[in-house]
Amino acid sequence: MAICAKGNYFFLENECVSYVMENKGGVLAHVYYGAKISHDNVGQCTAFYPLSFCCPIESDESEWANLDTLKCECPTAHSGDFREPSVVIKSANGSRRTDFRFSGYEISQKCKIDGLPSLRGGETLIISLVDSVQNIEIKQFYTIYDDCNAIARHNEIINHGDSDVQILKLSSFCLDIDDNGYKLISLFGKHSNEAQIFVEDLGRGVRVFESNCGITSHKQNPFMALADKNYTEYSGNIYGINLIYSGSFKLSAELNNLNNVRLTGGINDNDFAWTLEPKKSLVSPEAIIVFSDCGLNNMSVQFSALYKKYLLPEKSLGKISPIVLNSWEAAFFDYDEVKLKQIIRSAASTGIDTFVLDDGWFGARNSDKCALGDWFVNTDKIKCGLSGIINECKDSGLKFGIWIEPEMISEDSALFAAHPDWRVETPNYKPAISRNQYLIDLINDDAFEYLKHVFYDLLHSYDISYVKWDMNRYITENYSAALQSGRQQEFNHRYTLRLYELIDHLTSCFPDVLFEGCAGGGGRVDGGMLYYFPQIWASDSTDANERTKIMYGWSLCYPLSALSGHVSKCPNNQNMRTITFSTRADIAMLGAFGYELDLNELSKSEKDLIFEQCQLFKKIYHIVKNGDLYRLINPFTTDYFSVMVMNKQKTEGYLWFYQRLVDYGKTPIRLKLKGLAKERLYFVEHFNLSLSGDTLMNLGFTVPAFYEDFKSVLINIKEII
Ligand code: GLA
Repeated sequence: MAICAKGNYFFLENECVSYVMENKGGVLAHVYYGAKISHDNVGQCTAFYPLSFCCPIESDESEWANLDTLKCECPTAHSGDFREPSVVIKSANGSRRTDFRFSGYEISQKCKIDGLPSLRGGETLIISLVDSVQNIEIKQFYTIYDDCNAIARHNEIINHGDSDVQILKLSSFCLDIDDNGYKLISLFGKHSNEAQIFVEDLGRGVRVFESNCGITSHKQNPFMALADKNYTEYSGNIYGINLIYSGSFKLSAELNNLNNVRLTGGINDNDFAWTLEPKKSLVSPEAIIVFSDCGLNNMSVQFSALYKKYLLPEKSLGKISPIVLNSWEAAFFDYDEVKLKQIIRSAASTGIDTFVLDDGWFGARNSDKCALGDWFVNTDKIKCGLSGIINECKDSGLKFGIWIEPEMISEDSALFAAHPDWRVETPNYKPAISRNQYLIDLINDDAFEYLKHVFYDLLHSYDISYVKWDMNRYITENYSAALQSGRQQEFNHRYTLRLYELIDHLTSCFPDVLFEGCAGGGGRVDGGMLYYFPQIWASDSTDANERTKIMYGWSLCYPLSALSGHVSKCPNNQNMRTITFSTRADIAMLGAFGYELDLNELSKSEKDLIFEQCQLFKKIYHIVKNGDLYRLINPFTTDYFSVMVMNKQKTEGYLWFYQRLVDYGKTPIRLKLKGLAKERLYFVEHFNLSLSGDTLMNLGFTVPAFYEDFKSVLINIKEII
């Protein structure tokens, strides 16, 4: 990996990719991002620009370069570049014009971004651009890694002037590339139906993917990919972009009249305005831009490898995720001490590691209508207190985990009675209610301190090894009495920063506690959360059939080992579908595994299976966690789902094959494996095949028909030595 400056050019490169920029008359121009190129005089390739209608770059009039056609790394508003700007700043006199010119650069090891989650590792090029009229600096950060084909980007604006300015937009990156008739791939969805893959042609104009929900949301994930029109999982150029951010975001792809594609993204500028005082700075979240020249699957492998090594909490690396038994779908709110103890005892000696007490243990919380904020155990319901439950877990050989929802307050709660002003609300308006609950104003210092202390005390007072941090509504009102009227449009980002501060505080105070993220299932699956939480509850849909799609979708950008799935009861609580116990377990084992049902209600044969399943999970998880995922059959476009995971040495892996519905007349599926060493011999368990890697990958094999709906097999593949 290397970063170097040559004349007016900057090259960032590793063995596979190059990212090249040019100081063009003071404007920071983009030259290239893609498969590796040499340090040639790339000026020969970029000397001609299409003629636009406007604005040559003043110092460079000899060339037909002008801002509206130049590939630009930091386009600003009203400058002559009429495409999407990446930065918009309003000065004290109300103008939004700026002119940022190159002023210098430095190269350093990657530093942590203050107050925001970001990748570790890598080498960073920092380019300074200065608007000399207002004395504002923008630092553009570019980090490259030697073992992943990704550029990590973020920007920082520093006000060196004497007056306040207002930042109306601060993107994390801008990438201009030539059009190639691209497809756009994104992940949309809704509660219990997250990560649905959407593929469309990139049409003319601006296509925006965004969240205005205050969190990343189930609706749209902060991920998009631009893919060659004939791309497949294993061929074609792909640019994949993901934001390391958990608040309202915006990603845009603009195909303009000159056949240039501009990709930008970061904090959503809709309802955003940040007052930057003299000597203050504002930093954007980080954006990750992965390049693959061999299809979509490789983009996912790159994201996954990068996140596993440089994003997930270091202390979680190499650790196996505990197998949990969660009380939610086992009992919902309907439990007392006796029932909890029965559930706990039933998990003894099964291989389950941790009992997680979900919603309902605190305040007067017997339904979702009340008590959020009252983080004290309900001793009417749990007479032995949390200690009694924890002791029961210990007696059954289990660890203890607990559910919390720190960002919320119920109107019917002791906390609200004592501090009605801690609720997020707009003066004179009734705040919008969602799932019967409201948000706590994290920007209010007293509320923030209360949360810090109440959860510190909880984790300090009890032997808790696992915390499920939930968030069950979107943000409305977007107003804090703790902010001056002129700063209300800072609400969204400030909320997110405060949330990170709270999580950072608790995860640092309790480094041995495993935190799992959740937001009504997958409403906040993003790199920001994964920086603190090594795993996230992937969806409130626990139906194995629906999970095949949801996990397939998440696998585009996130390591599946960091997304959790549980075996729940049948008929399924959400959609009433019945699927065998073993298929439910196979699909849940795609990620961090567990159970979410009352084991006392299972048949003897099902209960016997738990032990085997737990053993299997403990065997496969290190491969799921450290290996590479290969998508084989797409459940969105077929009646099947198939993926495999191979370890890095290509000696062992697992294959998931799932059939939705039997179709007697259909030609059987031919499955071609991936990720094997061509010349080695492998044994494919279950199908009883002993074949070489190249045969399994190129000829493949016919999957024998099985006559059962919603049926999966989970198969070991091992090198024969
Ligand atoms: C959310 C979570 C569930 C469960 C409930 C409890 O919906 O996604 O897993 O914890 O809250 O209220």
